[in-house]
Amino acid sequence: MVMSKAAVPTSNEHLIRWVEKMAELCQPDQIHWVDGSQAEYDSLCDKLVKAGTFTKLNEKLWPGCYYARSTPNDVARVEDRTYICSQAKDNAGPTNNWIDPVEMRHTLKGLFKGSMVGRTMYVLAFSMGPVGSPMSQIGVQLTDSAYVVANMRIMARVGTPVLKEIDKGDVRVVPCLHSVGKPLAPGEKDVAWPCNDTKYIVHFPESREIWSYGSGYGGNALLGKKCFALRIASNIARDEGWMAEHMLILGVESPQGEKTYVAAAFPSACGKTNLAMLIPPKGFDGWKISTVGDDIAWIKPGKNGELRAINPEAGFFGVAPGTSLATNPNAMAALAKNTIFTNVALTPEGGVWWEGMTDEPPAEVTDWKGNRWTPEIGKQTGAPAAHPNGRFTAPAGQCPCIDPDWENPEGVPISAFIFGGRRATTMPLVYQAFNWSSGVYTGATMGSETTAAAAGAIGNVRRDPMAMLPFCGYHMGDYFRHWIKMQRNLPFTPKIFHVNWFRKDENGKFMWPGFGENMRVVKWIVDRVHGHALAKETPIGWVPVYEEINWKGLDFPREKFEKLMEVDRAAWKKEVIGHEELFISLHDHLPPEMIYERELLICRL
Ligand code: GTP
Ligand code: SPV
Ligand code: MN
Repeated sequence: MVMSKAAVPTSNEHLIRWVEKMAELCQPDQIHWVDGSQAEYDSLCDKLVKAGTFTKLNEKLWPGCYYARSTPNDVARVEDRTYICSQAKDNAGPTNNWIDPVEMRHTLKGLFKGSMVGRTMYVLAFSMGPVGSPMSQIGVQLTDSAYVVANMRIMARVGTPVLKEIDKGDVRVVPCLHSVGKPLAPGEKDVAWPCNDTKYIVHFPESREIWSYGSGYGGNALLGKKCFALRIASNIARDEGWMAEHMLILGVESPQGEKTYVAAAFPSACGKTNLAMLIPPKGFDGWKISTVGDDIAWIKPGKNGELRAINPEAGFFGVAPGTSLATNPNAMAALAKNTIFTNVALTPEGGVWWEGMTDEPPAEVTDWKGNRWTPEIGKQTGAPAAHPNGRFTAPAGQCPCIDPDWENPEGVPISAFIFGGRRATTMPLVYQAFNWSSGVYTGATMGSETTAAAAGAIGNVRRDPMAMLPFCGYHMGDYFRHWIKMQRNLPFTPKIFHVNWFRKDENGKFMWPGFGENMRVVKWIVDRVHGHALAKETPIGWVPVYEEINWKGLDFPREKFEKLMEVDRAAWKKEVIGHEELFISLHDHLPPEMIYERELLICRL
C-alpha cells in the first residue's frame, strides 16, 4: 500500500517508513491518520453504529453516549496470553510469560500477515500525559479497530497535537501495533465485535515495542494503558530513575486549606476508581477530596526532592457494576455524557444498567450478551445483566471532583503511598509501615483475591506485589530493588500505608462500610503524614488507636473496630509463609532488604 505524501500529516520519515512497513505486513484496504477532532470522532461513531458495534443511547437520557457488546471470549485482560519478550528470560523474571524475542517476532509476523485485509488501518498518535509535559511519553498505535480509536480518544491525548510533538524531532515514539485478527474476504460481512480466539499481547522491553493481536477489549487493545503506561513505562522508568505504578492519585484538602496528595495501589477491581473519587461522609465538614487519576501514576523526583506524580491518562476505563449514586456519585456524573459503555445491560428506553446501579433492577433489559433479561430470569439462571468486568470509558475532565492540577505538566507532590488488596481475613483496616524498606516489603508481599478484571478463576488469594503482578515489565525482584533505590535520592520519602476495605466477619459480611467512609482512614493517614495523629506499635506496623479516628456521623463501636483491626499472630505466621513462596521464586534477584524485613517481621510475631 502506497501512501500519498499529501495525506500524511507528519514529516517524521522514521514514523512514515514504519507505518508503510506495517501496512505492507497487515495489508489494510486503507490508511487513516487520526487527527483527534470531534468531527472525526462523530463520524467514527456513526460508522460503528452502522457496523452494529455501537448502539447510540437515548440522547435525552445519555447525551453523546454509545453502547457496545463484546463477544463472550473477549471480556477481560488475558494474563496467560500476555508476554514480556526481553532478550534474556531472566530479565522478564518468573512472574511474566516469556518467549524468545526472535521466535516471538516470527510468530507475530505470521499472525499479522494480511490481518487487516478488508479493513482500515488507523494511525493513532497519542501522548500519555499532557502534550508537551516533561513527564509525558508518546506512542503511535496502528489499529484496525475503530472501537479502539474511539476509546483511545477518551483515554489519551491523541491526533494532530501529538503529531506536532513528534515532528519536533528528538522524541521517543513507542510503536504499538494492534489487530483484532479478523481480516475480511472480498464481500464478507463484518461482525459487530471482530476478534480472534488466538490472542497475543506482546511487549519487547528493550526496543520498547508493543504488538497486540486477537482482542479488542480494554487493556488488551487500548495499548496506551497497561501495555505502554505500565509494562513498557516500568522499563523506561527503571532505566531513567522514576516509577510507573498501578496507582490512583488523590488530593485531600483540610478545612484549613492544607492540601495533601496520596497515591494508592490496589489490584484490578479492588477500589481505585472509588477511592479516587471519594465524597467525605457526615462528620467531615470542610474536607475535600479531588481526583488526579484513578488507575496509573508516573512518579518522578522533583526539583525540591519531593516525588511528583502525573496521571498519564485522560479518561477513566472504570468497572461499571457496583457504581451508583450511593457508592460513587462523582463517577456517575463523569459517565453521564460522552461515554462509551461496554458489556453492561441496555434498557428499553435506550439507557444502560448494571448490577448495583439502582436498588431495584429494571423490569426488563437486554443483557451484555444481547439476550432478554429480567430479574426473574436472573434469579433462575444466576446470570447477571452486566458482565462483572463491564466498563465505562469516560472523559476525566467530566468528573466533578477532578483536581485543578490534574493536567499540571509538573505533576503533584506525593506525601503517602497506600497499598491494599481484597482480603477477607488477616489484614486489618489500616496500618503504617515502620519506614521505607518495611513499606516496600508491605507492598511487595501484598495479597489479593482475584477479580473479573482478568480472565480466569475469581476469589483466590494471590500475591500481587504493588498491584503490579500483571503489569511489571521486568523481573519482579529487580522492581523491588528499584523501589528500595528510589529512596536514596530523596530527602523526604512518602510514608507508606496498607489498607483493607474487604475484611469479612464470621457470617461472610464486610466488616467495614467502605466507599465514602474510607475518608476516616484517609484522614488518619494524612494526619500521620503531618505528624498530627498518634499510633500504636504492632508487629506489622503502626495502627490507629480508636480515639485517633474521626467517628463523627458513623456508629462504629470500639469492639467492632478492634475486631476489624485485629492482628492475629497465628494468621500472620501463615501469611508470612505466603511471602516466602513469592520470595523463593524471585530469590536470585531479591534485594537483601526484603529478606531482612521478613526476618524482623517473623521475630516480632
Ligand atoms: P480497575 O479499573 O480494574 O483497576 O479497578 P479499580 O481498582 O479502579 O476498582 P473500582 O474502584 O472500580 O472497584 C471495583 C469494585 O470494588 C466495584 O464493584 C466497587 O463497587 C467495589 N468497591 C470499591 N470500593 C469499595 C469499598 O470501599 N468497599 C467495598 N466493599 N467494595 C468496594
Ligand atoms: C485493570 O484491569 O486493572 C484495568 C482495566 O484497569 S484494563 O484496562 O482492561 O486493564
Ligand atoms: Mn487498573
